[in-house]
This record gives sequence, structure tokens and C-alpha cells, in this order.
Amino acid sequence: MTEIIDGNAVAADVRDGLADAIETLTDAGHKPGLATVLMSEDPASETYVSMKQRDCAEVGIESHHVEIDPDAPAEELYDTVDDLNADDAVNGILVQMPVPDHVDTRRVLRSVDPRKDVDGFHPENVGRMVAGHPRFKPCTPHGIQKLLEAYDVETEGAEAVVVGRSNIVGKPMTNLLIQKAPLGNATTTVCHSRTKDLAAHTRAADIVIAAAGAPELVTGDMLGDGATVVDVGVNRVDADTEKGYELVGDVEYESAEEVAGAITPVPGGVGPMTRAMLLWNTVKAASEQSG
Ligand code: GUN
Repeated sequence: MTEIIDGNAVAADVRDGLADAIETLTDAGHKPGLATVLMSEDPASETYVSMKQRDCAEVGIESHHVEIDPDAPAEELYDTVDDLNADDAVNGILVQMPVPDHVDTRRVLRSVDPRKDVDGFHPENVGRMVAGHPRFKPCTPHGIQKLLEAYDVETEGAEAVVVGRSNIVGKPMTNLLIQKAPLGNATTTVCHSRTKDLAAHTRAADIVIAAAGAPELVTGDMLGDGATVVDVGVNRVDADTEKGYELVGDVEYESAEEVAGAITPVPGGVGPMTRAMLLWNTVKAASEQSG
């Protein structure tokens, strides 16, 4: 029987686990605050940001939202981040990516105060994580670690294949999997668009993490029997539905489910965990800044 990994349930547990800390901080006059900054009219980005605000309201985190016209000068975004860095009511800052082409993404990531960098994208925080002493683990890889832990998927000595090498998922996921730490110690291979024989790698894997942004790239015949399959993809593909599209992952679910030992669905797998770990990082930030 293939186990369906329920990201909504594990995310709810993560949120419940934060309740005491949020109450203690709030009672002491340090209600955690998260700022979201959106400089985009991309419907998916708008949806993600509004879901993050809803999550905050649900657990008692104050959300501060700034929307910037995508045609505005880049300085408007840089100045906004400076203001949020200086605002004591804001413990965490998330600038929704991607930003418009005329904005220097690396400058934005560098300009967020590393103590408020709840995405874990600032070079100082990337460095800390790679060196094995993370301050904020990036939310998606951290959420995947929590999912694997919740479902007793052993990473120690496992063959893990990460498909995708993005700064947001593939690279940090790889770093966490190879660390000498709980939920690490996996023998980890990174595959990407130039990999010659993807299926040869995925077939030999105990754990496949698909994060390439390619709809249904990984199919059942590319998996070993009983593998754990984690699907990070959220791809809009044209479909004869009311909205004119449907969401599919990087894994072809129907064929993969027949082979996998455990699999995350899309939606309801990794997505809710990414959002839960953002709350987790915000509470960590608030608690460190309250001292
Ligand atoms: N865009 C897609 N994923 C993310 C994320 O985890 N954080 C931010 N800031 N932007 C994103």
C-alpha cells in the first residue's frame, strides 16, 4: 500500500506546536510580526502572499503587507526593505520572488536584515546553513525534512536524488540532506536539466525530491519499488476546467503512486509545509529579537 503523505495534517501539527510560543511572546508585548512584500501582478504570487497572510492571522502573528507597483522604480523596493528592517514590530521580512527584471534580486536578498530573513535567502544565512549551523532553514526544504520525519522516512544512509538545482529548493535541500545531523546523512545526487540519464538516477533512489519546475517530469517507470517521492512542483497547465488550467506537480502522480512506498500529493503535500515553516521561522525570529 502506498502511503499518501498528508502535508495539511503535518502542517497543522507544526502550527499547533507554535501556539504556546506565540502566546508567551504576545503576553510579554512581543507579538510576532511578519512583513510580506509583493512587487508583482502574477496571480500565483498574489495567491501565495494572501495565503501567507491568512496563515499569520490564524496563529496570531501580525502581518504587515506592502504592495509595490511592478512598474515602480527599483528604489521603492529597496527603501521598503530598509524601512521594514528598522521597524521593531516586524520580526520577519519576506519579499515574494520573482521580482521584476529591473530590480536587482541579489541586492534585495542582501538588503534584508539577516536576523529578519525568514526565507533564509541572505548570503550570510545561506553560508551558515552550508556550514552546518543554520539560523533560518529555507522553508520548503525545512518543510520536507519535517514531512520525512513525520512519516518515519529514514534519511541516514539513504540514496536521495534531488531533481532541480534552484536556490530556493534544490540547493538548500541538497545541503540539508548531506549534513551530519538528524534528518541528514543521505547519499545525495543532484540532477538537473543537463543530466544525461535522469531515470537511471531516480530508479536507484530511496528518496526522490522533484523540484525542477517541469510538469510531470518524473513518471512511475523512473522510480524504484517502494521509493519515497516528494513532489515540490506546482505547475499550471492548460486544461478544460473552469479556470482554464489545472495544477500538476513535477511527478506524474497516477503512475508514480503505483510504484512508490510513500508520495506527496499536489496540492496538499509540500505546499502547506512551506507555509508552516515560514510561521516557524517568524516565531524563531521574534523570540530571538525579544531577548
Ligand atoms: N517564490 C517562490 N517560492 C518562494 C519562497 O519560498 N519565498 C519567497 N520569498 N518567494 C518565493
